[in-house]
Amino acid sequence: MTGNSFGKIFTITTCGESHGGAVAAIVDGCPSGLSISVQDIQQELDRRRPGQSALTTPRDEKDKIHLLAGVFKGKTMGTPILLLAYNEDMRPEDYETLKNIYRPSHADYTYIKKYGMRDFRGSGRASARETLARVAAGAIAKKYLKEKLNIEIVSYVEQVGDISTTIDDTAVTRALIESNAVRCPDQSIAKEMIERITQIKDQGDSIGGVIKGVIRNVPSGLGEPVFDKLSADLGKAILSINAVKGFEIGSGFGCAAMRGSQHNDAFILKNGAITTETNHAGGILGGISTGQDIYFRVAFKPVSTIQQAQNTVTQDDRAIKLKVEGRHDPCVLPRAVPVVDAMSALVMMDHYLRHRAKAGDCHE
Ligand SMILES: Cc1cc2nc3c(=O)[nH]c(=O)nc-3n(C[C@H](O)[C@H](O)[C@H](O)COP(=O)(O)O)c2cc1C
Repeated sequence: MTGNSFGKIFTITTCGESHGGAVAAIVDGCPSGLSISVQDIQQELDRRRPGQSALTTPRDEKDKIHLLAGVFKGKTMGTPILLLAYNEDMRPEDYETLKNIYRPSHADYTYIKKYGMRDFRGSGRASARETLARVAAGAIAKKYLKEKLNIEIVSYVEQVGDISTTIDDTAVTRALIESNAVRCPDQSIAKEMIERITQIKDQGDSIGGVIKGVIRNVPSGLGEPVFDKLSADLGKAILSINAVKGFEIGSGFGCAAMRGSQHNDAFILKNGAITTETNHAGGILGGISTGQDIYFRVAFKPVSTIQQAQNTVTQDDRAIKLKVEGRHDPCVLPRAVPVVDAMSALVMMDHYLRHRAKAGDCHE
């Protein structure tokens, strides 16, 4: 109802503002018996945390996670799990001058229109700090999916501005993604991306890009017709991430220029099993997983907070020129990769449990 919870069986509720006391997630519906440690969660959070490289905001948060309920002797109990990280490196004074100003393309204006007030310190709940809770919860789903079903989620940065990689997804590994600060598995393109982000940052500007999401070893049969199609739920999950402006699955918008004879994924037999020659569907047909890899693309905007003068208006209707100082990401893509992973894991986990409740084991 209030938009702070997600999922039907494997559910998460997040709370916390950017410069409040803490950010937290309550995860409910996780089956008992999954081995989970603070380290399993922390390693995902370290990929998202601010201050991790010269390409991200210098806000230096350690994002140390506290696992406060639902786990006993290293195993989930089937009871709600509480995950919490305190905010430590806050500088609310950075936002004092912004408290009556609508930053262009940020959420200040709409929060005032909706609530009549807002926590102006670091954008409150509109801040990407909220994604910490998603990544923490997603780490549990990700672990379950890998251990019990061998489902693997590997999102990576495919494009920054007009620089993009055409790397073959099957060659992409977590180690390659993590081998550079921009999280692009193509090393020479990653270097170009890093140079571009550094240049843009020096100009006090920001830049957007594309993350490619890849989900491997998906069993067929996940997804609920008709409103909760797997593709629809992935779309909602991904579009709920801050700064996302576009989502396309499989052939996406490219399919509009194709003919059926080019686009159809012909069924074939391979080693006695049914598969398809191509995968324009992106691993989902009729809202249900085919058993092929699921892949999608996510467009992120250049973040709105830039250090250049812009026209705007104050809460008391004065037109002003605004130049924002303070700590911001010049490009959110490197930090958004674990967020895309987490939201993908939450959707897959929820749909696996929904399918299990209805149809027993998935059909291989
Ligand atoms: C990982 C991540 C980091 C972000 N960092 C910043 C930032 O430093 N400054 C900023 O203005 N917006 C940042 N954003 C985007 C804002 O949170 C977002 O643009 C804002 O809440 C308005 O929402 P919308 O763009 O989804 O409409 C970030 C987003 C993500 C996913």
